[in-house]
Amino acid sequence: MDGIRTGGSTVAVLGSTNMDLVAYVARAPARGETVAGREFRTVPGGKGANQAVAAARAGGSVSMIGAVGADAFGDRLRAALEESGVDTGPLRTVDGPSGTAHIVVDDEGGNAIVVVPGANAAVTALTPGDEAVIAGADSLLLQLETPLEGVLAAAETARGHGVRTVLTPAPARPLPAGLLAATDLLVPNEHEAAALTGRTDPHAAADALLEQVPEVVITLGSAGSLYASRTAGRFTVPAPRVTAVDSTGAGDTFVGALAVALGEGRPMPEALAWASCAAALSVQRSGASTAMPYRTEIDGLASSS
Ligand code: RIB
Repeated sequence: MDGIRTGGSTVAVLGSTNMDLVAYVARAPARGETVAGREFRTVPGGKGANQAVAAARAGGSVSMIGAVGADAFGDRLRAALEESGVDTGPLRTVDGPSGTAHIVVDDEGGNAIVVVPGANAAVTALTPGDEAVIAGADSLLLQLETPLEGVLAAAETARGHGVRTVLTPAPARPLPAGLLAATDLLVPNEHEAAALTGRTDPHAAADALLEQVPEVVITLGSAGSLYASRTAGRFTVPAPRVTAVDSTGAGDTFVGALAVALGEGRPMPEALAWASCAAALSVQRSGASTAMPYRTEIDGLASSS
């Protein structure tokens, strides 16, 4: 473990753990087509676990609420979280297989993913221990790869304790009013923002989303991010220029680092710029959690950008 905890930011994550089964190819196959791959890797992933690893490596004190299966993948997923310094006390082991993500990464660093939930489907409710973890955090990070009932229960618990709730609406799906009402900061990518609002222009999508949540960050890949708030205006943050080899987990890296920076009390523009550096570092290496940078690396890029 190389994480250096200097900021005192406490982050709870409720979400998925998946073993990513990754094929690297020149280009993804079309329907009905077979293409030859160059390499195959198994990499610990899942949007929840990725955000937990990203936050821990960025210097946060992080707990992971979720479930792995009683299989070899489950053991490896738990160990990978612990190696990055994540507290896995609230991570249950349940009967059946762990979640898997079947990923094709092409030569431009783009990806296509099929997720099979496995154990993640068991994360439908909170234990008293889960509630205590959320109540003690600065931020709760949520995504949509575990059942909505559990996500909603966690968001409402966070709201009840004054904990900042950060929702990554991925995979995109219609969001219940109760979940939006308990969300402080929504962080979709541009495709998810368009799916949620029917508007492809990020500014128009932000306008629509601000009718439902107080703050939005729309991530725009190499173009950076757009921040919009009901009360604090709107601005864009550029991303460092880098050559991407694998964008898997870049959004999760961004959110994990952002939560740590906000928990340290940094102003939003500075927090977003720091999170952009974390994401830019992650896309230069392959894999999801394996590509996530440590705090010293983020600080290094931030100070030279
Ligand atoms: O956001 C990236 C993640 O999405 C991958 O790690 C994969 O597990 C899928 O859940």
